[in-house]
Amino acid sequence: MITQMKQRFNEVLSTINPSRKEISKFGEVLTPEYIVDEMLSLTTITTETNILDMCSGIGNFSIRILHHLAETYPQFSANDFLTNHLTFNEIRAERIEKIRYIYGEAARIVDTPAQQIKNQSFDLVVSNPPYRRNLDIKILNSFIPNNNIKELLIIHPSRYLLDHKDNSSAKMYRTLKSILSSHLISAKFFNGNPVFRISIDRSIVIMHADLSKQINSIACNYFGNEYISPDIENITKFCNEWFSIVSPFFTQIKNWIKYNQSVLSQEKTKLLKHNAQIPIKGHNTQIPLIRGSIMQQLFLMQIANVIGGHYDNSLAMYNDDFYTLIMKDWRKNIGIRKSLEKKVPMNTFCFDTENECDNFIHYLRTDFARFCLCIVKNSFNINSGELNCIPYMETYKRPWTDKDLYEYFGISEETQEYITNYLPDYYGIRGK
Ligand SMILES: C[S@@+](CC[C@H](N)C(=O)[O-])C[C@H]1O[C@@H](n2cnc3c(N)ncnc32)[C@H](O)[C@@H]1O
Repeated sequence: MITQMKQRFNEVLSTINPSRKEISKFGEVLTPEYIVDEMLSLTTITTETNILDMCSGIGNFSIRILHHLAETYPQFSANDFLTNHLTFNEIRAERIEKIRYIYGEAARIVDTPAQQIKNQSFDLVVSNPPYRRNLDIKILNSFIPNNNIKELLIIHPSRYLLDHKDNSSAKMYRTLKSILSSHLISAKFFNGNPVFRISIDRSIVIMHADLSKQINSIACNYFGNEYISPDIENITKFCNEWFSIVSPFFTQIKNWIKYNQSVLSQEKTKLLKHNAQIPIKGHNTQIPLIRGSIMQQLFLMQIANVIGGHYDNSLAMYNDDFYTLIMKDWRKNIGIRKSLEKKVPMNTFCFDTENECDNFIHYLRTDFARFCLCIVKNSFNINSGELNCIPYMETYKRPWTDKDLYEYFGISEETQEYITNYLPDYYGIRGK
């Protein structure tokens, strides 16, 4: 019976090649067998385990579970397991039809959206939920509290664990973290791009939690770097150095910003002060603004795009340094006009003199400013949360070097060394 299921599964699998539209509409990405096996190896499944294959697609997890049980238990009855212990959850009619074809009439299929499932009990929930627009987080936030769940094995984007900034998604990230708090067993982070085609540099996590147990040491594996975190709030890409070096630096910067200014708080403020109507012609840095009837020369510059709007050619527009905010050819200011017309959410800054504008650009290129950005930047996008973690110095009439900034903020030599080792000298201005 398992052999027939496996044959049918492979037959269906060979016909599936989700289009871009399907991927975007349904989160239609297949979970590769080696990932399924790696996830299942983290737990113990017996013939008595009650399992939900949530957002199951064609049941990539289920086929491996059945295969494993058949190999482990000579008396295993697939029919009994499908009837009494395994539940599929999938909303797409076409996929449900395939589940029926592969697993037969005994397959129990819940065709309601996962977030609406209520009052069910499961020993184990396995899932590769859809990722688009944080659907995975929304599903887990309603599904987990509404049901009686013991163990969870989920593969999905890791931002809710790694992000240490406030942005529009922060509330739902915090909700999921509080649901999992004290129950997370392990978190393995790796590059999701080759497998799931999600944006470059946005890591995926295999999350394993046991809601029936209190757990206070989480086994983390960040791209092969293994470390233990005592709680869910302290999982970061900085591994052990987070505790000794990066967290104290970050706390200090956030406190400074609380009583001073961040780069975010300065964005466009001066422009608004000038109440400018902007007749922009060409793409020069020096753009005439009309304030009342007075023509005024202000110097504008723009930095990387905020969330959304990254296109296939975005690498042509941005520097290939992950922690930069400066456009490749910023003097062209290709987005300022659109930004000021509010057509694209670009960050635009305005200065009285070209010198101040240059000094601000130099500041954003320092290791100090890049490291502030680096603490919170975990994906290709930049949004207000990132900009709100970079101090805005009170003047740009003078240039700021790393030496000045480390002295100003009283950054220890150990931290300076860590920053230097962590960041590449992308602009070749280190020590200048
Ligand atoms: C990442 S794919 C599933 C991968 C699956 N493990 C496989 O390899 O086939 C996500 C699946 O979730 C389904 N889906 C999307 N939204 C859903 C929802 N709200 N509730 C349940 N299933 C959903 C999609 O139709 C899709 O088949």
